[in-house]
Amino acid sequence: MRLLVTGAHGQVALSLKERGAGRSDISLMFASRPQTDLSVPGSVAAAIRDASPDMVVNAAAFTNVDLAEAEREHAWRINAEAAGEVAAAAADVDAAIIQLSTDYVFDGTRGRPWREDDAIRPLNVYGTSKAAGEDMVRRANPRHLIIRTSWVVSPFGRNFAKTIVEAARSRDVLRVVDDQRGRPTSALDLADAILAMADGVGTGAVNLGQTYHVAGAGAASWFELASEIMDECRRAGAPSAGVVPVTSAEWPTAALRPRNSVLDCSRFEADFGTRLPGWRISVRNIVSRLLAGHAE
Ligand SMILES: NC(=O)c1ccc[n+]([C@@H]2O[C@H](COP(=O)([O-])OP(=O)(O)OC[C@H]3O[C@@H](n4cnc5c(N)ncnc54)[C@H](OP(=O)(O)O)[C@@H]3O)[C@@H](O)[C@H]2O)c1
Repeated sequence: MRLLVTGAHGQVALSLKERGAGRSDISLMFASRPQTDLSVPGSVAAAIRDASPDMVVNAAAFTNVDLAEAEREHAWRINAEAAGEVAAAAADVDAAIIQLSTDYVFDGTRGRPWREDDAIRPLNVYGTSKAAGEDMVRRANPRHLIIRTSWVVSPFGRNFAKTIVEAARSRDVLRVVDDQRGRPTSALDLADAILAMADGVGTGAVNLGQTYHVAGAGAASWFELASEIMDECRRAGAPSAGVVPVTSAEWPTAALRPRNSVLDCSRFEADFGTRLPGWRISVRNIVSRLLAGHAE
């Protein structure tokens, strides 16, 4: 199977590169800026036409949740319009599309994990643009799978784990929000899931046109996640800091975030007979790699 991945230098794309490397039955191709720029209409469609893949994984996105509040139009262009373009261009070459989306399509007000069919009500520009992207993909290409994931960390790029490890080098105490809960997800584990889904599409075992929640097993607050990261730093004898819980009100950000964005992944687990590893073990592995200098 020929798989084209957009956003080549992002966490999920680099994880797909690593986890797909040993797979002789999958040929991975990558598209990135400046040659393929989702802010330029037609650019990604040309890349898809040239590559003529069996499947496109749209891992490119405007992922800076707070900056999106100020750059609303840019976020909309990349996360909504360009996602629709990717899906339509994939349809033109008879390719399926896997579109990455987010837990931030939900408003966080439910007392239980969110299911795929729950009503969405994004609280911020990022979530609104990603929700619109989902719709545009659904409309443009019936051969789609939409994967909502959450709190992605990895040895690659910018992410919460790397930020905390770096902050501990210069600070004694880190104040971290404790009243938002979600499911931390290793991009490497997510890449394994995406490859399994691509396999299923290739063999015809997967019904297309579906939305799946795919995230690390277990839930946490940002405070609990930061505490685990610091525990791993301490175990490794690396610089560490104390972690102090604060409320969202004490840590105001440009974008509002849901209090509970824990995803219910049981549809994925039932259909694929697997689940992602627990977030603690995956986060420990990522921190070890960050400390060993494997970060890219
Ligand atoms: N990160 C999270 O916590 C999280 C949570 C839930 C869902 N998701 C979703 O998961 C997917 C992958 O996220 P990620 O964490 O891997 O994101 P990431 O590390 O921020 O990578 C995003 C990639 O998109 C590329 N990109 C941005 N604007 C572009 C443009 N105009 N043209 C071409 N490429 C562009 C970036 O390219 P450059 O390298 O050139 O900047 C970057 O490589 C996204 O759909 C995201 O919405 C992420």
